[in-house]
Amino acid sequence: MKNESIIIYPGSFDPFTKGHCDLVLRALKIFDKVIISVLKNPKKKTLFSVDERADIIKSYFPNESKVEVDIFSGLLIDYLKSKNINLIMRGLRMLSDFEYEFQMSLTNRKLHKEFEAIYLVPSAEYSFISSSMVKEIAEFNGDLKLFINDYTRKKLNEKL
Ligand code: PNS
Repeated sequence: MKNESIIIYPGSFDPFTKGHCDLVLRALKIFDKVIISVLKNPKKKTLFSVDERADIIKSYFPNESKVEVDIFSGLLIDYLKSKNINLIMRGLRMLSDFEYEFQMSLTNRKLHKEFEAIYLVPSAEYSFISSSMVKEIAEFNGDLKLFINDYTRKKLNEKL
């Protein structure tokens, strides 16, 4: 039997957006399984706790057995080694993402020579969405229907 192809999608996801969801659905056309791995970093201030972020992500994929949500802390490469997976995916929305992603990939490769990353481009309608913008729009009661699902909107309203 052929081995299952799995890709890790790491990020802060504070909160997960329809842009992130779009990337996961694209990845599922290429891989058998996507593990969305949420970073738990006590030093980084986030609006949602790591459990809340994971709970929000699950609300996007209620009936999708090919998507798993996991939590990690520490170095990404140590997490990858613990899972015996060398491959991650990240989204590239605009040119401005490139420098950060390039630096992160090369740093990870220095730390772990087997490290590989692939970059997926979201649908144009999501190419400008970011979690920080979502939070800012929420703060001023803007319309977020296009950017996040109903459950995330409810959770954001409870927070702000
Ligand atoms: O959604 P983000 O905040 O752009 O995701 C960044 C993330 C979580 C992928 C990155 O910060 C990360 O991997 N952090 C874990 C710590 C680490 O491994 N740092 C060294 C590589 S840059």
